[in-house]
Amino acid sequence: MPLDSPTPGLTTLVLRVNGEERPAVFPTHHTLLEVLREELALTGTKHGCELGECGTCSVLVDGRPVLSCLVLAAEMDGKAIETVEGLQESNELHPLQETFADLGAAQCGYCTPGILMVAKALLEENAEPSRDEIVAALAGNLCRCGSYDRIKRAIRRASAPLASAGRPADG
Ligand code: FES
Repeated sequence: MPLDSPTPGLTTLVLRVNGEERPAVFPTHHTLLEVLREELALTGTKHGCELGECGTCSVLVDGRPVLSCLVLAAEMDGKAIETVEGLQESNELHPLQETFADLGAAQCGYCTPGILMVAKALLEENAEPSRDEIVAALAGNLCRCGSYDRIKRAIRRASAPLASAGRPADG
C-alpha cells in the first residue's frame, strides 16, 4: 500500500516480497531490481544488462516472470513479488534448487537466480514440461557458461517427482 511520501521524487510503499510486508522508501524512478537489491538487501536477484536482454534479473510478480530491470518498483503496489530468496521453505530447498545442485546446473551461477524463478513459474503452470517447453520458457534467459543442457535436465528432473506426487511445484 502507498504511504504518504512528503519528499518530492521519493516513493514510500509497502512491498509484498516473498510473503512479507517490506516498507521501502526509494527514488520514484528506481526499478524493482534496484529497490530489491539496494533498499531491501535482496541481492540474490542479479544485475545484468539492465536492458531486458539477459533475463538474470527475473523475478515473479503475481506468479508471472518479470524482468525486474524493466519495471518500476513504484508500480508494485498490491502485487506479490517472489525472489530467489523465497524459494526455500523453512529448511527445505525447493526441488529446483536440489536438482540444480545435484546436476551441477550452475557454473558461475550468475544467471541461476533468474532461471530458477522462470522455471518455478513454468512448473507451476505445467507440472511436467517437455524439453521444448523448457527451452521456450527459458528463451529470455542467457547463460554465459553455456550450461543449458544441465539446466534443462535439472528442470525436467525437478518436475518429475512433483508431477507424480500430484502436488504443485512449490509444494
Ligand atoms: Fe534485466 Fe538483463 S538485467 S534483462
